[in-house]
Amino acid sequence: MAAPSEEFSVNANDAVRVAIVQPAPNSQIQTLHEFHPQFTYPIVGEAEQIFGYKGLDIELQFAAHDLRPHINFSYQKKFQTIGTTSALDLKKTFSNFLPPDTFQDDFETELHKDATNWSPPGVCVKKYTRGGEDYEVWAGSLLDTDMRTLVDNIQILIVFFIEGGQFINLDDVDWTLDRWRVYLVYHKSSKPPTAHASPYSFVGYATTYRFFKFQKPTAQRDQLASFPFPLSEEITPTKLTSRLRISQFLITPPYQQHGHGSALYQAVYDEVLADPTIVEMTVEDPSEEFDKLRDLNDFDRLEPQFKEAGIKINSSPFASADRGRLKAVPTATLLPIDELQAIRAKNKIASRQFARMVEIYLLAQIP
Ligand code: ACO
Repeated sequence: MAAPSEEFSVNANDAVRVAIVQPAPNSQIQTLHEFHPQFTYPIVGEAEQIFGYKGLDIELQFAAHDLRPHINFSYQKKFQTIGTTSALDLKKTFSNFLPPDTFQDDFETELHKDATNWSPPGVCVKKYTRGGEDYEVWAGSLLDTDMRTLVDNIQILIVFFIEGGQFINLDDVDWTLDRWRVYLVYHKSSKPPTAHASPYSFVGYATTYRFFKFQKPTAQRDQLASFPFPLSEEITPTKLTSRLRISQFLITPPYQQHGHGSALYQAVYDEVLADPTIVEMTVEDPSEEFDKLRDLNDFDRLEPQFKEAGIKINSSPFASADRGRLKAVPTATLLPIDELQAIRAKNKIASRQFARMVEIYLLAQIP
């Protein structure tokens, strides 16, 4: 017979089910997608085990459109407290990672309210199709209350899918500065399941923030003069020369590997390129998977520009070097540094990432 510690211990990643749901006819709920988390250690501890329940099932539902959350705990048997050992307090544990609404009983009623006119917060910045279906990217400030509610609802997914992923502490955000911008990807259905349902269904999102960097006025003027974009009237000194950093980036598992991550990355990048107040785009602690996505997309963008500029290694300094006494050759004599610098500035790519792209390009040129 299994010891009580084994019998009443469950793997938290298996026990938690995330369900993306929408209203169905006759007041029913339809699950569009269901998946398990990849990580739960920030919530239940390093071992990712929940002690005290047999047959535990934790269903975390999100309304597909506005991501209103709801949690259901069910189990066959709960361990009775013996001495100081007791079952994990599930509500208390999960309430640190979910908004208070999650634990209310009105989820079904709220889900069935008319959402026909609901649209994601912010503005639509990109539309695209995949497999004959329509998708949209919406972007808006975290100062927008609807955007903030939505981000607060969904932040637990950052813990579930990004190793070491950090919550944005919405209580700590400085609301006097409009620094945070959120990008949302939605599937837009041509046929919602009920007359009252929203056509929008969540795919993934990214959060970004700006660093404002003060420079001498002349340096700012020179820098801005090199941008091919007209300067907006609204530019204030504090908005000049800022960097944009991608903070969190997530495509939900059912939609991964279908180009949605690339579409979202490009949407953020296009806004960076079009904004003369942003001089560089950076990424906070990128995962290996994100690095791959970034490399693929940056390379696609840069390769034609490298080709057009005729970037190649100048081998003549090596040819003229005294064989046998090969001296160090400065990079500037091997590569057209000025042309490369111009391409980097135009594309607003961080220097390390740009150096990586140049290296890949040069290696690809070797016959
Ligand atoms: N059809 C089929 N496949 C495609 C298509 C398409 N139309 N377009 C691209 N692909 C391929 C790509 O070539 C790529 O192939 P590869 O894996 O062989 O290189 C693959 O699909 C992945 O590219 P995308 O589909 O564009 O990326 P995806 O939507 O899967 O998103 C991401 C990648 C964001 C890493 C996602 O997997 C994810 O959210 N993972 C979990 C969380 C995470 O790691 N987030 C990043 C953390 S770092 C940070 O937050 C700053």
